[in-house]
Amino acid sequence: MMEKTARAADKAAEKAVQRCIDSACGAIYGLRERIYVCPRCGGTLEIDCHLDAAGDPAAIRKRWEERAASRDPRDVSGVWRYREMLPFDEPIPFVTLFEGNTPLYHGPRSARYCGLDDLRLKHQGCNPTGSFKDTGMTTAITQAVVLGARTAVCASTGNTSASLAAYAGRAGLQSAVLLPRGQISAGKLAQSLDYGALVCEIDGNFDDCMRLIQELGDDPSIYVANSINPFRIEGQKTVAFEMMEQCLWQVPDHVVVPGGNMGNSTALGKGFQELLDLGLIGRLPKLSAIQAEGAAPVAQLFATLDLTRADGGANLPATMAPVENPRTLATAIKIGAPVSWKKALRAVLRSGGRIISVSEQEIADAKAMIGRDGIGCEPGSATTVAGIKKLVAAGHIRADENVIAVLTGHMLKDPDYVSAYHRGTLALDSGAKDGSGAPQPIHGAFQNSPERVAANKAAILATLERRR
Ligand code: F0G
Repeated sequence: MMEKTARAADKAAEKAVQRCIDSACGAIYGLRERIYVCPRCGGTLEIDCHLDAAGDPAAIRKRWEERAASRDPRDVSGVWRYREMLPFDEPIPFVTLFEGNTPLYHGPRSARYCGLDDLRLKHQGCNPTGSFKDTGMTTAITQAVVLGARTAVCASTGNTSASLAAYAGRAGLQSAVLLPRGQISAGKLAQSLDYGALVCEIDGNFDDCMRLIQELGDDPSIYVANSINPFRIEGQKTVAFEMMEQCLWQVPDHVVVPGGNMGNSTALGKGFQELLDLGLIGRLPKLSAIQAEGAAPVAQLFATLDLTRADGGANLPATMAPVENPRTLATAIKIGAPVSWKKALRAVLRSGGRIISVSEQEIADAKAMIGRDGIGCEPGSATTVAGIKKLVAAGHIRADENVIAVLTGHMLKDPDYVSAYHRGTLALDSGAKDGSGAPQPIHGAFQNSPERVAANKAAILATLERRR
């Protein structure tokens, strides 16, 4: 088994390389080197797949279409179905929970709320552990198996850890997750416990956990599965392929994602770029990322850029000022120093999209509006609809344009938030370390609090009448 795995990995080295994205460095490394940043300059790595072997566009589309109807486990997965685009070669020791295959819905109420004729919502919360992380975790944990790692680790705001724990469990690997103590929703924490991860509650925020992870990455027994790991991005990029199949290859004008650690925006940007390079699409959709106002270092940097001189992402700023104490009730994206900011910024600039921020009130109301369409997402995901509303109002998206919002996590990830919004008790604390300062209340503009109703038919009918 091990020999077979090693052979597969050697062959894969011919199919792709790891490359430093810093144009002044550009160093290249083999796929079997267990590195997360460029050993030469410390820069961010990405995987450069040699896609020429994939075939002509019509043949690729046909092959993917046929696989969608197949019962081969590799084809049932909405990630491994696109395996010629991934840096692995057969036989792949793939670890899957049959991720991907998520629905693309129309959201008529959300569209009207944003001022659009139509809006589609790609619900990545319908993945096996309830978030988009699964599409990248299947490839990252597969790579951990290829490399013979003993323990997979990550820092997380809750979803990466739940996903890592599940996939490591499937692979029979030990897993350990570093979580900021007291800042993770109960549902996400429960998932990591149940899937058997060692849960380390760290006194600090997500960025502190991420710093620790970068130190741990030196240990040869450990495999780091945060989105700094380019194999995560490879799995996550397949969402662009699935989305385009669902759109019958009609490229949307805008694709909008939440921005936290900025892995998702990086991955979607890479996926669309590869489709363009292969001739499967004729242009890129404008990719925009939306951050929460209190955790918006990349949006702040974006606002300072002169877009006329950004040169399609060729001229990237060297540094980004982190937010020291990020604050948001959308805990999934409560991140002050996103590790993938450079790759994401490059992808957004190349596409002609934007990076902006939205307030706590805007996130909460957008979330409730998505709910009215019968679609349940978590607060971090609702930044998309809040952001689209703002971009429409500012004239950056036209009412008749074709727009897709990527919803990244399921509503049941954080039911406490939802309940508090509808009961009118949602509030953001002051952020002061000593607990001083008044909390900022979030007004439930679309509040739907439960009614206490007497146990008889007449009372129920009367209540219905009143609320019609
Ligand atoms: N939406 C959800 C539901 C998330 O969990 C995250 C990130 C994001 C959006 C942002 O995506 O980081 O790729 O920009 N969650 C990470 C975690 C950080 O640890 O679960 P990103």
